Amino acid sequence: MKAVTIDAYGETPRLSEQPLPKVGPDSVLVRVRAAGLNPVDWHVAGGALDPMVYAYFPLTMGWDVAGVVERVGVGVSEFAVGDEVIAYNRQDFAHIGTWAEYTAVPVRSLAPKSQAMSWPEAGGLPLAGLTAYQALGAVHVEGGGTVLIHAAGGGVGGFATQIAASRGARVIGTTSRTESFPFLRELGAEPVLSGDGLAERVREMAPEGVDAALDFLGGDAVAVSAEVVKNPARIASVVDGSVKALGGRYVWVHPSGRDLRELNALAEAGSLRVHVNREFPLAEAQQAVELSRTGKVRGKIVLTVP
Ligand SMILES: NC(=O)c1ccc[n+]([C@@H]2O[C@H](COP(=O)([O-])OP(=O)(O)OC[C@H]3O[C@@H](n4cnc5c(N)ncnc54)[C@H](OP(=O)(O)O)[C@@H]3O)[C@@H](O)[C@H]2O)c1
Repeated sequence: MKAVTIDAYGETPRLSEQPLPKVGPDSVLVRVRAAGLNPVDWHVAGGALDPMVYAYFPLTMGWDVAGVVERVGVGVSEFAVGDEVIAYNRQDFAHIGTWAEYTAVPVRSLAPKSQAMSWPEAGGLPLAGLTAYQALGAVHVEGGGTVLIHAAGGGVGGFATQIAASRGARVIGTTSRTESFPFLRELGAEPVLSGDGLAERVREMAPEGVDAALDFLGGDAVAVSAEVVKNPARIASVVDGSVKALGGRYVWVHPSGRDLRELNALAEAGSLRVHVNREFPLAEAQQAVELSRTGKVRGKIVLTVP
């Protein structure tokens, strides 16, 4: 099969010929139709996760997948050949990826693909959607209140904004540029510029204080959140471990077929849309990575497999 691989950390990802992945007794082989790109993909390829995650080369990149079940492991009864599925296919090591014609996925990570989504939309949902969903859960954004979301227009922030708004929260969302204000409003946020003076601007917008904050950016986002959130236990970051010293939560997204079903339900209720910023064929994975590295992408980048 064709796959986007690297043979060592720091290499440019390239299309190569690879054997089909092994399919465990509780896994399925998925023919990939679309695979989202997330910043972690190029962090892995650059070796940033090496202190925590074993990597085996050649390493196939990508953790998001939408596709069709081609074969099931001997112990699988939950899914059948021909089922349309999605998954956040992170294993406890880096080797089997999703930027390929086929990937093997443990059943625990799988959910049906919702008919409410196109293939590229479904491929862009899992990792970022789960991160948003699990981070909102970590700081108990379950009803109303005011939520500050840093980088509200990004892959993760866009989902978090929509989910929080659908739960009745007032969302104040940060962006680095006024050109993104209409997009943030479309997602359900009141936009505010990040950078110097952010805490002051947020206080003007919400003089009564902010109930929870979600950092999908890094930098001084946790420190700014601490200035405006009433209870620091309701600050979560997915990028900055210093949040724990304040009593907040660091969130590392975990694969969950169950949580993906919840995201499907939101999409089917019309409360969640996947904004596909741009699609690339597998062969242009490196161009897709370069676009992601700009840090300026609104919504999701998705690789597609014909
Ligand atoms: N711990 C975990 O499990 C986990 C899971 C997923 C992601 N992450 C991390 O979370 C971060 C976000 O991921 P992502 O997929 O959402 O990334 P992304 O899609 O690449 O985020 C890009 C967005 O960031 C916004 N942005 C850039 N600079 C900004 C600034 N100074 N102020 C406000 N917004 C800014 C941009 O909006 P504008 O251009 O409008 O400013 C853009 O829309 C990454 O570092 C990623 O590695 C961690």
